[in-house]
Amino acid sequence: MKRLAILGASGHGKVVADCAELSGWESVSFFDDVWPAKQNNGAWPVVGDTAALLACVADFDGVLVAIGNNSVRAAKVRALSEQGAVLPVLVHPAAVVSRYAVIGSGSVLFAGAVVNVDCRIGIGAIINTGATVDHDCVLGDAVHVSPGAHLAGGVCVGDRSWVGIGSSVRQLARVGCDVVVGAGAAVVSDIPDACVVAGVPAGVR
Ligand SMILES: CC(C)(COP(=O)(O)OP(=O)(O)OC[C@H]1O[C@@H](n2cnc3c(N)ncnc32)[C@H](O)[C@@H]1OP(=O)(O)O)[C@@H](O)C(=O)NCCC(=O)NCCS
Repeated sequence: MKRLAILGASGHGKVVADCAELSGWESVSFFDDVWPAKQNNGAWPVVGDTAALLACVADFDGVLVAIGNNSVRAAKVRALSEQGAVLPVLVHPAAVVSRYAVIGSGSVLFAGAVVNVDCRIGIGAIINTGATVDHDCVLGDAVHVSPGAHLAGGVCVGDRSWVGIGSSVRQLARVGCDVVVGAGAAVVSDIPDACVVAGVPAGVR
């Protein structure tokens, strides 16, 4: 039996669990520091906290971090990896991923996501429902491309940046590290590190 542990008993975690079942994982267990107050996350059991998971990673065929905060997710992915956890890439059967794309461990790609040819995506990334990442994009570690966001060809997105729901990024634009791109934004120029941008065209807030 293929057993998956998910750290983070959130709504996002439920989407990860559902995606896991649809892609061949036979058993899914959640871990979250809210345990034991929370015993279930949707259809799946919450069985322990972070410390419990770190102590038993070898019991699982794979471990995924389903924490929305990009910095926290990056840190947890690192800790689990150092503990010897296997961090699979989870691809929903209705996602379309080029065979020439390289996806880092611990990343998830949900229904309707498209990752096109020659993209490189770091570890612990989220390519959310209906998001598209076109040819030759380079995404760092723990990047989140929200539902319905679109990255044109050759876009670079730095580590831990969050591309908001329904936003668009023009071809070849470079988005720095630790950036938040607001919902519905249109990014038409390069964005420096560590800022929030929003609007059409997107400007720093
Ligand atoms: C941009 C964002 C980070 C700002 O969050 P915030 O700092 O809490 O901002 P507030 O909600 O307090 O709004 C502050 C102002 O910015 C405006 N604003 C907020 N988000 C905006 C956006 N995406 N585009 C344009 N203006 C926006 C608000 O209308 C408000 O304007 P006002 O001062 O004139 O009333 C946030 O609104 C956002 O878009 N986050 C992305 C959400 C997302 O993608 N979720 C997907 C989850 S999978």
